[in-house]
Amino acid sequence: MRTAAQLAAAAAPRHRAPVDPSAPILFFDSGVGGLSVLEPTRALLPNAPIVYAADSAGFPYGKRTEAEIASRVPALLGRLVERFHPCLAVIACNTASTVALDHVRSALDIPVVGTVPAIKPAAEMSRTRVIGVLGTEATVRQPYVDDLAAKFAADCTLIRLGSPELVELAEAKLAGDAIGVESVRSAVQPMFDVDGGDRIDTVVLACTHFPLLEEELRAAFPNVNYVDGGAGIARRIAHLAADQPWPAEPAGGILIYTGDGYRPLMSALARFGLTEVKSL
Ligand code: DGL
Repeated sequence: MRTAAQLAAAAAPRHRAPVDPSAPILFFDSGVGGLSVLEPTRALLPNAPIVYAADSAGFPYGKRTEAEIASRVPALLGRLVERFHPCLAVIACNTASTVALDHVRSALDIPVVGTVPAIKPAAEMSRTRVIGVLGTEATVRQPYVDDLAAKFAADCTLIRLGSPELVELAEAKLAGDAIGVESVRSAVQPMFDVDGGDRIDTVVLACTHFPLLEEELRAAFPNVNYVDGGAGIARRIAHLAADQPWPAEPAGGILIYTGDGYRPLMSALARFGLTEVKSL
């Protein structure tokens, strides 16, 4: 028999929407990748205050073990939530989401939106039924990806490639380095070279860094469709934040990094509404 207090606690909504209009949306990634999720979110919620956290000291997540990611990500998000009191957190990183989303959700008492490979829309789109999944090495080996494939793309062949080179190229691009189409082509070509790879017609950009290289990817491989989760995640964020009162005017967002310094150009960050950079 539960007491009245226990029943009331069980019935209470787990996520109470804060009414503070200055409460930001917190984006989290290992680096600049989450900007590809921030961009469509800003298009829907232009006045939402933004804190964008880049765990540059932990970068690259794709080369880390599951245990490292599962302990690092919830701990860092806990610190960030304590410091910035966001109304909602977005793990704008496929690697962290496919490994640690449940851990983060159980550690935080605000809504947490994850980023998972867009295999479902890719399967809806593919005609050849051969889909490329381009992610980090850690993401492409996750059982989470097997489950998505079994659920939404059971009649498709999935060809997976983990590409740390492409992650580095995206960081370099935002730091102002000239990125050649050739370097993108040689990083991705192995996916098309495996048996059946020539039939790939749809590529899932299963790492948030990769939409930042979409122009180069399209130039290197113009005959495939590219699918990423950014727009869908932005809609999910807007839905969960529907009751949040935003400020009347947009304010500049903050980028927080871990470690000793971080490379992206202020001019590149300003395109995503980030005007201030601080260390955690
Ligand atoms: N942006 C990340 C992702 O979506 C991870 C990149 C990395 O740190 O390896 O998976």
